[in-house]
Amino acid sequence: MIIKLQDANLNVEDLGGGIPLLLIHGFPLNLEMWRPQIESFSDSARVIAIDLRGHGQSPPTDGPYTMDLFAEDCLGVLEALNVEKQVVVCGLSMGGYISFAIFRHHPEIVGGLVLAATRAGADSEEGKNNRDKAIHETEEQGTQSVTDSMLPIIMAPRTYTEKPELVSKVAAIMQNTSTRGMISALQGMKIRQDSNPMLPQIEVPTLIIHGADDQIIPLSEAEAMHSAISDSQLEIIPEAGHLANLEQPLRFNNAVETFLSTLSG
Ligand code: MLT
Repeated sequence: MIIKLQDANLNVEDLGGGIPLLLIHGFPLNLEMWRPQIESFSDSARVIAIDLRGHGQSPPTDGPYTMDLFAEDCLGVLEALNVEKQVVVCGLSMGGYISFAIFRHHPEIVGGLVLAATRAGADSEEGKNNRDKAIHETEEQGTQSVTDSMLPIIMAPRTYTEKPELVSKVAAIMQNTSTRGMISALQGMKIRQDSNPMLPQIEVPTLIIHGADDQIIPLSEAEAMHSAISDSQLEIIPEAGHLANLEQPLRFNNAVETFLSTLSG
């Protein structure tokens, strides 16, 4: 369904019933990356998955898309869907940066967090320079340059040999990111806030999930968040990279379903 917000139209899936679970995708992806989770979790939860503006079926608007803007979009969707209960916010990578922004501005709506393949810190100077380079290349050549550089490292090395059909699927998902959406999200990630100082204030139950072979965000980032968030547990998914939810969906789903059952029970 399309949800109309003040300055954006967002493609959203809303399935199942029970504890509300908001799924926020990573970059440069869309809600299709959550297909194995949408199917499995909607048996026991109300799953709300969003195509962020400029990604998937949600048309682009002018950027930059700050993590705060994306967070407001998520809040707008929850409001439009009349979600009145606290939600479990599950974000992967950039989706995790947005989850932190939701918690920063609206901690009262967050009943739990699932932080997958993400980090709390802002971009380093080197990271910011890399964003500028990627923005420039995308302006010059379209989305291909970023997808060509990310696709070979977004999963664990063994996934490329063992699951070639998954690699094609992820490539197809990436191709559904608009040029304007990609540039605007890169601009927004570049200026995102450091969420490290906020971690001790996170008191809601938090599940941190990270692929053991993540080549984009090192496992040490997940371990650091685990040390700083009091009520957190860390689940390391073996034989998985940055997209553990697609590379090892059963293990990923098991971890999240166990976590959800502790929250609703
Ligand atoms: C993502 O997977 O969302 C991105 O790799 C995050 C980032 O570029 O920092």
